[in-house]
Amino acid sequence: MEPFRFHLFICTQQKPEGVASCPASGSFSVLEALDRETQAHGLGHEVQLTTCGCMGLCDEGPVMVAYPEGLWYRRVKASDVAEIVNTHLSGGKPVERLVWKDAPAMKAMSVEHGEKYRGAMAARDKAGMLPDRWEQMIRGFMPSRCILTALELDLFTAVGEGANTEQIGAKLHVNARAVGMLLNALVALGLLSKTGDDYKNTAESARFFVQESKDNHRNGLLHTANIWNGWSTLTEAVRTGTRVAIDREENQDWTRNFIAGMQRNAKDRAPLVVKALGTAGVRRVLDLGGGSGAYSIAFAKAGPDVRCEVLDLPEVVPLTAEYISQAGMAAQVSVRPGDMLHDDFGGGYDLILLNAICHMFSGEQNQEIFRRAHSALAPNGRLVMQDFILNPDKTGPQQAALFFLNMLVGTSAGASYSEPEYTEWMKAAGFGEVIRINLPGPSSLIVGKTK
Ligand SMILES: C[S@@+](CC[C@H](N)C(=O)[O-])C[C@H]1O[C@@H](n2cnc3c(N)ncnc32)[C@H](O)[C@@H]1O
Ligand code: FES
Repeated sequence: MEPFRFHLFICTQQKPEGVASCPASGSFSVLEALDRETQAHGLGHEVQLTTCGCMGLCDEGPVMVAYPEGLWYRRVKASDVAEIVNTHLSGGKPVERLVWKDAPAMKAMSVEHGEKYRGAMAARDKAGMLPDRWEQMIRGFMPSRCILTALELDLFTAVGEGANTEQIGAKLHVNARAVGMLLNALVALGLLSKTGDDYKNTAESARFFVQESKDNHRNGLLHTANIWNGWSTLTEAVRTGTRVAIDREENQDWTRNFIAGMQRNAKDRAPLVVKALGTAGVRRVLDLGGGSGAYSIAFAKAGPDVRCEVLDLPEVVPLTAEYISQAGMAAQVSVRPGDMLHDDFGGGYDLILLNAICHMFSGEQNQEIFRRAHSALAPNGRLVMQDFILNPDKTGPQQAALFFLNMLVGTSAGASYSEPEYTEWMKAAGFGEVIRINLPGPSSLIVGKTK
């Protein structure tokens, strides 16, 4: 029995540049068009779209197999999709001109492809070549650096509605020849398009990287560009066991970008955290190192009686106050300049938040914060710690393991920690019940409840 009326398998097997493949012939555009057209025809629940790996017919791609008939479509273009949806998926009649019916030829091609592939793999292995995925990881810094440099220069804003190399070079006050090389690389990476001498933003780069766009991520991503500098000292940090002091100017711009970077992540996660914890019994919240105040804002929005206090460093709280005022939540969310390592927390809180904080500090510093937070909570109060949480053997998840190194190069004592460590510290601080709450995404919550 088929759960769907139709099940389409579209090949999206990525292959090295220059090798024939369905993605190189446009299978992702076909997939996008199929999704759009089936939804538009009200067939979203009738047609299952599934991506699949190579079927050995790469020269005839994009290849798509349609069930229940078991028909093989070849050389499908995005412009064919409307006809496939109308004629086949709605009308029940396959688009004959695209159906490949020569089963023996298909089989011969697929078998030959399989043999060639296995032969090529054996030859690569014999020659001692690195696996492609390793090459990709090793050279991963190249695309990353192109994008970060473009963001640092604010190149996507300079491209605007379209411009040539000279115009962009003049706007950015950079070398025209060099910026031309960068622009071409960004076209190759799919972040710009080029017609004649003119470059244009793609719909996505215009949305995410241009200053005037409401979804602009540039400011937040400039923090990632700052992190780059630290990562380039990793070898030395591993040699010496500690971060290498780099000549970075922590000025108002640096802080603004850092807090914008934090807000970029926090604004989407905050509603998930509020939902996971609920606001029942929550009146007073202390948001330690609250940064942009995104979590306090979300708690305050969820409960009109909730009052939140964001404690952060004196140079940060004016920025926090800006975010709070932009959200229109100044009546419920206040700021307190201070140092969470030394200043008194006060008392009687129902909830104390430590979002993306513990990785900045040593184990001893965190234990001290947990003890002081326990004393500052009311009965049945909760301490909520959110961070990347390592497995007990500290080898994963991958993002937490990599973030550990981010702390090595960026802080004097920071680290990623494991669930057993956090649990033990909370219990030692006096919390009765300690639970973990997993959220979608890379970080999780550990919640300790006072007795
Ligand atoms: C990684 S950010 C997290 C921000 C926020 N909690 C979030 O999740 O978006 C760390 C925050 O802690 C603040 N911070 C660092 N050291 C601090 C200290 N000793 N006392 C108070 N805040 C501190 C930073 O200014 C920054 O806002
Ligand atoms: S890449 Fe699609 S059939 Fe080979």
